[in-house]
Amino acid sequence: MKRTANAPRLFHLGRRINSGERPNWHAGTALHRVEKQRRTFAQPLRLPAQAQFSPGPPQMNFASDNTAPVTPAILDALAEASRGYARGYGNDDWTQAAERRFCEIFEGEVAAFLVPTGTAANALALAQVSPPWGAILCHAGSHILTDGCGAPEFFGNGLKLVGLEGAAGKIAADGLGETLAGYGGHTPHQVIPSALSITQATEAGTIYRTNEIAALAQIARQRSLAVHMDGARFANALVRLNATPAEMTWRSGVDALSLGATKGGALAAEAVIFFDPAAAACFGERRKRGGHLLSKHRFIAAQFLAYLADDRWLDLARHANAMADKLAAALTAIGLRPVWPVDANLVFVVVPRALDLKLRTAGASYYVRSSDSLETGADNVLIRLVTSFATIEEDIERFVDLCAKHEERPIDVYPNDVPPSASRPAAK
Ligand SMILES: Cc1ncc(COP(=O)(O)O)c(C=O)c1O
Repeated sequence: MKRTANAPRLFHLGRRINSGERPNWHAGTALHRVEKQRRTFAQPLRLPAQAQFSPGPPQMNFASDNTAPVTPAILDALAEASRGYARGYGNDDWTQAAERRFCEIFEGEVAAFLVPTGTAANALALAQVSPPWGAILCHAGSHILTDGCGAPEFFGNGLKLVGLEGAAGKIAADGLGETLAGYGGHTPHQVIPSALSITQATEAGTIYRTNEIAALAQIARQRSLAVHMDGARFANALVRLNATPAEMTWRSGVDALSLGATKGGALAAEAVIFFDPAAAACFGERRKRGGHLLSKHRFIAAQFLAYLADDRWLDLARHANAMADKLAAALTAIGLRPVWPVDANLVFVVVPRALDLKLRTAGASYYVRSSDSLETGADNVLIRLVTSFATIEEDIERFVDLCAKHEERPIDVYPNDVPPSASRPAAK
């Protein structure tokens, strides 16, 4: 898929930790230096924010949920975890507590492994469930296929990713069945389909309902494929569905989950969860060998503990989704209807090139995308707007105001594969 990108604007964290109070560091000067540096490099307070952040002018930064800052509770948890010494490589209290928390959240014994990036989580998980001669079936627009720089193939010793087309970023049961029918009976010349990987929420901002996951998993299971879920935006999907984490995963047939916290408000925290701990055999060695076992492991665990505490992860995702809803509704009201259902925190809309230029000149940040199922015409572009826990209403109001003042509208630019008004589950 071809993609062009306007450079996202850079900004610095402007939040002062502990509101300027000198923290009570136990670990002494090194840590104090960290705090001092943060202040030295901080710009005037320009962060978009919920109540915890100091307010600033709206930035209209819709580039990605990873351009967002780190939520203060997680920064505080990191500072707290840094008060003293702890054993390395996951042999610490934070990691044990996080492992217990995952078992609670998923209602059963799970094997959980923390890593700093989503790419590592996906690539290591897929390598675990597939032999090198295996094929992972995924959506043609999935991050693992289009944006992983070959990491799944690299960690999987050359396993093959097979991209399936599917409306609105989703693999359909029919499409999966047809693809699988093309494999088998030509051994040993063909790769062997070994896993299905779905993204929840998808790269198009849509979500799979639990019955859709179950239907796909059933087809996969009939052919002995494992089912992997890329949950970089797991919480955004979860709060939209009337489902529990267990229902959205193992109860619907998912075997392995890459659970992301980074896009939801953490600094760098992702987990690979195996719902059958036996399937995780030697995954610890795989992670270490792949260079993703952090020595100061407690700092990933501390992020997860804060993220999952008191339903914080759900609240952060609810806010991001609500901002996407507001953006989608306001754009629709002025004749710029999103091209795919807005199920999570991503809004895709086609705008005239002249408006795109005006928006960027006015300081808005977002990426220009393309889609095989969408012909925008030479005068229009498809843009992706991502909201996050840190998006504020003023960001949206300013952005929509700029759009409203530009009277030209693209005519009937919608994908031919999905009705824009597709129904969506009630929010939880
Ligand atoms: C759906 C999805 N999966 C995985 C990733 C990879 O995460 P990371 O950038 O932390 O490696 C991303 C990042 O954009 C993503 O959007």
